[in-house]
Order: sequence, then structure tokens, then C-alpha cells
Amino acid sequence: MDQVRLATTTAGDVVGIEDQRLVHNSVYLDEQLFALEQRALLGRVWNFVGHDSDLPEIGDYLTIQIAGNPVVIIRGEDRQIRGFYNVCRHRGAQLLDDAGQCSAIRCPYHWWTYGLSGELKGIPGSPAYENTGFERERFGLVPIRTESIFGLHFVCVDESAPSLIDFLGSRIVEVLATPLQTVSMEVIHKQSWTVPINWKLVAENQRDGYHVPFVHPIFRSASPASPYELVDNGHAVQWTKLDYDRLPEELKSAADYALPGFEGGGGYIMTLFPDLICQVRNNYFMLSSSVPESLDSTVVTRRIFGVVGDDEAKRKVRMAAAQATALASYEDEDVPVLLRQRTGLANWTVPYSLIARGQPATEGTRGDDNRLRQWWEFWRDYVGASTNTSPFWKG
Ligand SMILES: [Fe+2]
Repeated sequence: MDQVRLATTTAGDVVGIEDQRLVHNSVYLDEQLFALEQRALLGRVWNFVGHDSDLPEIGDYLTIQIAGNPVVIIRGEDRQIRGFYNVCRHRGAQLLDDAGQCSAIRCPYHWWTYGLSGELKGIPGSPAYENTGFERERFGLVPIRTESIFGLHFVCVDESAPSLIDFLGSRIVEVLATPLQTVSMEVIHKQSWTVPINWKLVAENQRDGYHVPFVHPIFRSASPASPYELVDNGHAVQWTKLDYDRLPEELKSAADYALPGFEGGGGYIMTLFPDLICQVRNNYFMLSSSVPESLDSTVVTRRIFGVVGDDEAKRKVRMAAAQATALASYEDEDVPVLLRQRTGLANWTVPYSLIARGQPATEGTRGDDNRLRQWWEFWRDYVGASTNTSPFWKG
């Protein structure tokens, strides 16, 4: 039988293009690389977990996977929000699920019980531990580093990583202050999608301005290209403008109730490394975070924020704008093209894709790829790779 011949598209076709403007398919397909990313990248950055308004009452909690670790944040008796590994110190069972409220944390396996500050309170049959060297005080829940800014709570697995403020950097803090510091905001809607694609395709999509006029009809006409800035530590800010006159009739109300500082249609899409978006579009604020569950499964969660004290009418208007420009646009327009990209990249014969478009960032329009190249620069640093290729790939 004839030998199977692979298609002839090889590295030869991309000769002359510098490595940083290419992405090798192996980064989306390699299980070993996914495991490395969890420890070397996601385990070393600050990951968003929740907003103050997600946990308004004492005992409210929220669980999440961070770099493969089950984590819970919970509001204590003193109203402080603390983060712990969501793992029983007895036999390692996961303690809490999803989100909810409790007066104490009880492990379903042997009913070990912890207080809201993580202290170990109850052990069924505790006398059996006498003379075993076991000390109850040393077996509270293990805390995870938890820091917050403007009501946003982040955790970091790495005990030696810089502080949250240093990780974000002064420019990000300055931009985020409006609206988060100037007006009191709360989550009015939260929605998740489990998307069967690698988490990096989600992160890249957030920085890819080139697709916007083709995939998102509303933004094609009502949101002209605007400048952006690349900032420290892999973060970027895209300034946006909503052209009220070009909004479709059914969305004219998106011009109403602009957040303070964004009157006239201003806004931004802030992409924090590696995978959080903080977005202002005129009359609402949105956070989009993602949890890489496995090589090929990512849970994307979008929170829409309104202003504390909004009446029903204002809330409706903010939700209508968010539905069109942040929820439906993601589900109906971004996800389908990402699924196609996932299918197309799952091959070894057309091995490179291109992130070559370029202009200086400060002059850039939404069509440039320098935000993507910036993302990959930081990915290489964390992962310890010299090109945008899996270090395990032997091509
Ligand atoms: Fe998009």
C-alpha cells in the first residue's frame, strides 16, 4: 500500500515571518502543555473569583476552580471575604459546591466541620485522635492568597507572586476606578457557557479586534475602530465609542442612563492577562472570566453590573444593552466562529495560524494583532517557551 502522504503545507510556507507572528496548533492540542499552563501560568497570576455583591450576606460562598484547584471564597462573621482551598483536611474531599449560604462548612464524607473563618470546629469521634500527634488547631482550611480592588476579589496560588495591585499596575487601577470607584455597582445578571474549546482561544478572541466588523453587525456600524494601549504585565485597554446615531432602532435605549464618566457613548474593553475582560459600554459594566476545565473545555462567565439603587426601568435598559452587546453577541456570534476555529486547528498538516497584522499600539485600530502578540509574549514568559509552540511538541 502507498505510504500516506501528508498535505504539503509545512513550516516552509511561513519562512520569512518572524516566530512571534505565528501560533503553532500544538498549543491548543497538547495535554501535557495544558497541565504545564495550570501550574506555570494560571497558578502564578491573580484570578478573578467574584464581586462583593455576589456574596452580600454572612456565610455566602462561591466555589471555583483555580489552576485546577478547588477554591471557595466565603464571607465571614466579621463580613470579611476569605479564600480557602475547598478541600477537607481529613481525607481531601471537596467541601462545597457551586454557590450558596451556610453557617458552617461541613464535609459530606465524615462530617468534619469548619467555621466561616476556616477554623476546624467539629470532628465526630475526636477522642480517637488522642496520642496520635494530631492537633486540631493545625488542621483548619488552607487559605489561598485573596486580595481585592474596588469590590473585585482575586486569588493567587503562588505565595511568592507580586501583590494584586502590582500585578494590575497603576494604569489599570487608574482606568478601572471609573466606574468602579466613582459609582456603587452590583451584579444584576450572571450567565455561564461551557464552551468545548481550549481556554486560549477564548482569551485571544477578547483581544482580536479584526473580527469585530465581520462577526458583530451592531459594532460594525455603531462602534467605530478606536485606539488602544498595551500596558504592563500583559494587560491592554481598548477604548470604545458607541455612535448613538447608528444604533439600530430597537437598541436606541442603549444610549440612556450612561454611567458617570461615559456620557456621550464612551467605554473601554480592558483585557487583563491572561483571561479577564472588564468592559464598559456606555450604560453597563461587564466582567467576563473563564475557567479552563480541561484542554478542550472552558467555562465562560459574564457578569453584568448595574448601579446600586437603580429602579426597574433603568435596570431593564441596562440589561437590554448588555443582552445585545455582551451576551447574545457572545453566544450567537463569537462562540460559533470559535467552534469552527477549534475544528480547523485540530490538524497537523496546516500547522500554523497567523497573528501578523501590526501597527504601533498607540496608533492602532481594532484590526491590529499587537495585543495578541503581547499576550503570547507573556504566555512564553510564564510557560518557559521560546516560540508560540508547545514545548512538548516534537515536529
Ligand atoms: Fe467577538
